[in-house]
Amino acid sequence: MDSENGTDPRVVGIQQKARKYDTKRSMNLFKKTKRIIPTGASSLMRTSSWDPYPLYINKGKGTRIWDADGNEYTDFLMAFGPVINGHANDKINAAVRKFLRNGSIFGAPNELEYKLAREFKKFVTTQDMVIFSLSGSDATFNALRIARAATGKDMILKFEGHYHGLHDYAAVSVEAPAPISGLRWFPKSLPYSAGIPPSVMDTVVVASWNDLESLTKILRIRGNEIAAIIMEPVMANSTVISPEGDYLKAVRELADEYNILLVFDEVITGFRVSEGGAQKLYGVTPDLSAWAKALGNGYPISAIAGKKEYMELIGNGVGYGGTYYASPLSMAASLANLKLLEADDFAAYSHLGRITRRMARGIEDIADNLNENIWVNYETGVLAFVFTEQKKIRNYRESVNMDWNKYKAIQQKMLQKGFYYHPDGAERLPPSVAHTEDDVDRFLVALEESIKEYNKEN
Ligand SMILES: Cc1ncc(COP(=O)(O)O)c(C=O)c1O
Repeated sequence: MDSENGTDPRVVGIQQKARKYDTKRSMNLFKKTKRIIPTGASSLMRTSSWDPYPLYINKGKGTRIWDADGNEYTDFLMAFGPVINGHANDKINAAVRKFLRNGSIFGAPNELEYKLAREFKKFVTTQDMVIFSLSGSDATFNALRIARAATGKDMILKFEGHYHGLHDYAAVSVEAPAPISGLRWFPKSLPYSAGIPPSVMDTVVVASWNDLESLTKILRIRGNEIAAIIMEPVMANSTVISPEGDYLKAVRELADEYNILLVFDEVITGFRVSEGGAQKLYGVTPDLSAWAKALGNGYPISAIAGKKEYMELIGNGVGYGGTYYASPLSMAASLANLKLLEADDFAAYSHLGRITRRMARGIEDIADNLNENIWVNYETGVLAFVFTEQKKIRNYRESVNMDWNKYKAIQQKMLQKGFYYHPDGAERLPPSVAHTEDDVDRFLVALEESIKEYNKEN
């Protein structure tokens, strides 16, 4: 596990262990913020599981971030996925600065919008048309509305444990506690939040993913009422679970049989698992797809892409728009981001694939060395590892059968050693194109040390 630049990662690991680690400023900021911002931050994912308090991050460059107390970390959260070309990327910053001289937003079409759409189509060759929006939630919400308009049907079918944002039609069975979640093949639709009208809940049916029996049986009962089947084509919100065998192809065929639009939520997988997302990787084309995160390297932008006949419903009955949709600054950033990813015939993806594989194999080696039960899965640019005795994880219910406390305790030790990722074992680690083999090797050394320390203490 020697690093390529000549630094022995074991020495670096030891140095990091010895550093004085103090996060008092984050603790005090959390106390003060909670008094005026409910939960202490403007997104629950930034505070939940971060016990007893989250770290306030002030600065980032490449794969490094610094918290409010000045502690440096190698980042393996990367803002939950967007930052594919690293923090404060010079070329992307320069593109934003260049546009900034002209203003920020005009409420008018902008030349960059056409340029970005053209660039998008170089990556996503499977979809005819594209339109931009602001967040991943906007994209899934609009895609579902288009599907309803196209089919004249109201119901949506989603899968247990898949996350498509927090709007009412998506915030269903994101989590499903075992005693109330119903049958494996026919899970109950459970609201993920208070305040969702029962009439909305009645329009969302839930199936078990990677399970054709579940989908086939449900479609036999409700297929004629369903407008859209929406899924993460690689399930990256409950660890990282890949579709088995020809599952995606079979879903495509079932959707056609029942006149249902197939919607892929590529918010995480897009511009990450391959340049054309999971639909390119698995060779299955959805009717509509939602894109965000890695499209903008952290600038707020998302997109809906799809077949012409459905996309052209926008403006022909389907309402669409938002003040900040396709904001020029985000488009400038996104264009520069995609140009970097496209360079040398999309060479970025070979590097990203190598880095992710190295990390996965390294974790498997640690499991072997320490005789630990660790399940690892990855696709290019997304990886998850969990402590479980299961040999395989295929769906949400299997994914929650893990040792959450061990994962969290080890994540705490990793923070002290200078590695930042989410304490919730269901969250993935999305390495970026900026990550080096050295970043990965140092992570692996620290992880092995952390597991050994945990085992000694428990
Ligand atoms: C697969 C998926 N879809 C949709 C969303 C929602 O995106 P946003 O948070 O930008 O609204 C997310 C967010 O994590 C996601 O992971």
